[in-house]
Amino acid sequence: MKETKKTVDTKKKDTEKSKKTTTPKVETPESTSPLTMDKLTALCKGRGFVFAGSEIYGGLANTWDYGPLGVLLKNNIKAAWWKKFVTESEHNVGLDSAILMNPKTWEASGHLAGFSDPLMDCKGCKTRHRADQLIEDYISRKKKNFVVAGKSNEELEKYIAENKIPCPHCGKSDFSKIKQFNLMFKTFQGVDEDTASVVYLRPETAQGIFVNFKNIARSTRVKVPFGVAQIGKSFRNEITPGKFIFRVREFEQMELEFFCKPDTDLEWFSYWKDFCHKWLLGLGIKDENLKLRDHDKEELSHYSKATTDFEFKFPFGWGELWGIADRTDYDLKCHQKVSGENMEYLDPVTNEKFIPYVVEPSLGVERLFLASLCNAYEEETVGDNDTRVVLKFHPTLAPYKVAIFPLQKKGEVGEMADKLYADLRKHFSCTYDTAGSIGKRYRRQDEIGTPYCITVDFESLEDNAVTIRDRDTMEQVRVKIADLKAWLDDKLVY
Ligand code: GAP
Repeated sequence: MKETKKTVDTKKKDTEKSKKTTTPKVETPESTSPLTMDKLTALCKGRGFVFAGSEIYGGLANTWDYGPLGVLLKNNIKAAWWKKFVTESEHNVGLDSAILMNPKTWEASGHLAGFSDPLMDCKGCKTRHRADQLIEDYISRKKKNFVVAGKSNEELEKYIAENKIPCPHCGKSDFSKIKQFNLMFKTFQGVDEDTASVVYLRPETAQGIFVNFKNIARSTRVKVPFGVAQIGKSFRNEITPGKFIFRVREFEQMELEFFCKPDTDLEWFSYWKDFCHKWLLGLGIKDENLKLRDHDKEELSHYSKATTDFEFKFPFGWGELWGIADRTDYDLKCHQKVSGENMEYLDPVTNEKFIPYVVEPSLGVERLFLASLCNAYEEETVGDNDTRVVLKFHPTLAPYKVAIFPLQKKGEVGEMADKLYADLRKHFSCTYDTAGSIGKRYRRQDEIGTPYCITVDFESLEDNAVTIRDRDTMEQVRVKIADLKAWLDDKLVY
């Protein structure tokens, strides 16, 4: 890595009226106002991260389309997860199972009988609400203590009535009895729309892993303990989706099912909790934005021995980002019972037979997408009277790694920049901008989180070097074009 010139004058302003032949110099940024969900949604729409789904037809409630930058960010999140959880892992292998599964899967997993939300209708304005969410919102507003999970419908109804929890829509507190509503999306396979052809869109990717446990153990050289990782779409007919992309009906999960020997599960649970925590920190997620919340006994699912939620401090408050659960041998046992297939594993060393226990870190892509944006967003004052919005993404998450600015559109400078763009985009996700002053171009890239901006100026024709400006420090260095790829490789390695 060779840096031919380092700019050290950090007091100098990044003047938008740049000198003719060189790149503008450096500013000193200072953080200012906090992020709101309105600001974030506007930025996402304006810059092509996330658009409302089917917008020209008036939209379809809570569906979202990921624009040119959104798809890059999403793919980068998934690639970062896959790299650390599969490629670099000594324990784990991957899978891509079908979204549509034999409905017996959902009978075995308990989703047909129990994957439901407790719904109540407001008798005043006829709106429908989740009883558990009404209470959760109320206790967080009033700072009360009440554990919702594990409570019966009667207990939830009683708490709502006793505390006169109001309808968020009309303010009255007069609700119907709770009805359970199954969250699975139902459809039909084939031409007949009868009960025999009913299939479900999977509500989690995990079951595709459990039903393939034997296939994977048989067809690969993995030995317990090992994990199977999968990234894929899941669907839930959420009654109260919302908070932008936080709770949606169609989302992607990155799930790991880690199979281990009974009695080693709690050790592995703690191993994966730590691994996941470090992975988030390694992606630049600030620890002060994270909270690890252990489920207490009442809150634990019936199959789980231990569960920890990683919560993130979103602009609307703390919300679940990642769930890590010790699922015991529950799932494999259920599938063994319903399918009749033996799910035992024969330990090749000890000749012991057992049904493995499972530790599951399960993370939503959209949740981490939202958390990454919130975590990266800063508004800063620069110099005396300038401001900037900047997304300080970890470089591996940044949609574009490099932006190339020719100081002059045409002529030799333009040609040199064109060539550089063609060369660099073979290796990195790049963009090119010729519009407006260099200062304005910096601001545009700051707002979408591009870590490095490269300016090709008149001096470049002479010294075969370019100015690289760092998004976060705003410092500039001069680097020879011949050294550029190695310089960027070094900065962008993950
Ligand atoms: N296999 C376990 C499982 O699916 P979960 O807690 O229901 O557990 C795991 O979901 C993760 O999936 C959550 O922590 C969250 O990141 C994401 N997730 C769940 N429901 C979601 C929804 N409606 N919209 C977006 N992400 C969701």
